[in-house]
Amino acid sequence: MNKVAILISGTGSNAAKICESCLKNEINAKVVCVGSDNIEARGLEYAKKNNIHTFVIDYKKIISNYNSNSDKFKLPADFDYENINKKLMFCPVKDREKYLKTRVSAENELLEQIMEFEPDLLVLAGFMRTLTPYFIDRFSPDPDNPKIMNIHPALLPSFPGTDGYGDTFDYGCKVGGCTVHFVDYGTDTGPIILQKSFEILPGDSIENVRKKGIELEWQTYPLAVKLYFDKKIKIIESLKKGVKRKKVQISLD
Ligand code: GRF
Repeated sequence: MNKVAILISGTGSNAAKICESCLKNEINAKVVCVGSDNIEARGLEYAKKNNIHTFVIDYKKIISNYNSNSDKFKLPADFDYENINKKLMFCPVKDREKYLKTRVSAENELLEQIMEFEPDLLVLAGFMRTLTPYFIDRFSPDPDNPKIMNIHPALLPSFPGTDGYGDTFDYGCKVGGCTVHFVDYGTDTGPIILQKSFEILPGDSIENVRKKGIELEWQTYPLAVKLYFDKKIKIIESLKKGVKRKKVQISLD
């Protein structure tokens, strides 16, 4: 049986839709665990009710341990700062060393929890932490066979970051949407698997836009996971003006 691990930070409505599709056998896989960086994530309750293993990695505590004594901060034995720093494309905070050390420490704990289940795919469903190259190299080392998916609340490459619907609305876009993509070293930059769009009409408020968006996400994410396990997704490479790009090709047969 194919195995999926899911990470969430909040409501977990996408995680619930994916779990439901697996339970109904619409997706040929089983959700083996749901993890979070937030003990209060509502989505953990859904998982528990459905007898899915849950766990929490306390990122905030790890960061505060570093703040109180960075010299004594414990790092995994295989932590290689230079290697990870070279691959890190975007750092959200000024202090790169602190960012990498604290995130890698948390990711080491994440890996310990997740690897116990040997999942074939990791689904990020509203997980509000970026994964560093340390995690990606260990869980999904082959860019031609990526194993981590994310859903983003905008039509990438427009509006990466944490508030895709808000940014789409503020910009005055007439169309919004969501994107399911594989995760690479960048932020919201990996190969796009599926996108779905909706119209933003003159009377729409930001609340309407978010509602239209999340409802589309609930269709799009389970479909992307299904395509993955039906082996309909292939990574191809294109070359334009000397720049190579990994892209997803979906087979329709
Ligand atoms: C979704 O809008 C997703 O695109 C974004 O975070 C939100 C998570 O919602 N990354 P939920 O926790 O799945 O309900």
